[in-house]
Amino acid sequence: MARIGIFGAGYVGLVTGACFAELGHDVILRDVVPERVERLRAGEVPIYEPGLEDVVARNRERISFTLDVHEAVDGAEFLYVAVGTPPTYSGDADLSYVWSVVDELPEDMPGRPLLVMKSYPETLLDQTCRMVVKRQMRYGSDRGVPWGISESAYNLVDRYDNYQYKAFGVPGLGLKRGLGDELVVSPYATALAAMLDPTRLGSAKLVVPLPP
Ligand SMILES: NC(=O)c1ccc[n+]([C@@H]2O[C@H](COP(=O)([O-])OP(=O)(O)OC[C@H]3O[C@@H](n4cnc5c(N)ncnc54)[C@H](O)[C@@H]3O)[C@@H](O)[C@H]2O)c1
Repeated sequence: MARIGIFGAGYVGLVTGACFAELGHDVILRDVVPERVERLRAGEVPIYEPGLEDVVARNRERISFTLDVHEAVDGAEFLYVAVGTPPTYSGDADLSYVWSVVDELPEDMPGRPLLVMKSYPETLLDQTCRMVVKRQMRYGSDRGVPWGISESAYNLVDRYDNYQYKAFGVPGLGLKRGLGDELVVSPYATALAAMLDPTRLGSAKLVVPLPP
């Protein structure tokens, strides 16, 4: 079972947290409104969502609430960002609450938790990410290697004994000549990109089954 930290105990955060706790995970929800946190700690559910009160009550020992960022990230394997993104005057999403979460995250997080944020379908960013992953998969299959190619340190040191570092990549994706000459397979790049298309992991079977 994982420990999951969720930022924002609103509609999305609280429902997500309650569902993860129901699946058996340990969940800690962090919010910035003291009154909300107090009410949640007292067993009240401050939003209307049919059935949620029961799920939260059933999983009390697995859900906790805090105002403290450090408590929320301590030991977490996954961090979810579920703060508000209200529309601005021009109709864009105001992402300032999201950035404050990112700014507040401690620099030193020993477990290196995975930060999970909502992605907006069919935006340019979403389309670009999917296109890049597809191209990586095709290139991996053309070259007969697991897909996922990224930057890497390599076995050369400078005169201060620092490993040298270099960005590798896929021809046609990276803005650099000669990318097809060198091939570096990067499992962590595959693991990160797998979230975009978990059904096509191929040889790298990284999908974690849901707990019973
Ligand atoms: N509510 C929906 O039905 C719905 C559906 C799809 C997507 N979304 C998206 O999900 C996100 C969350 O929406 P919501 O409806 O849960 O919002 P919400 O307003 O109900 O909850 C947001 C919570 O985040 C808290 N918060 C603000 N800054 C914080 C910080 N730095 N750290 C921790 N908590 C902080 C607020 O106090 C509030 O309790 C938004 O991007 C929204 O667009 C919502």
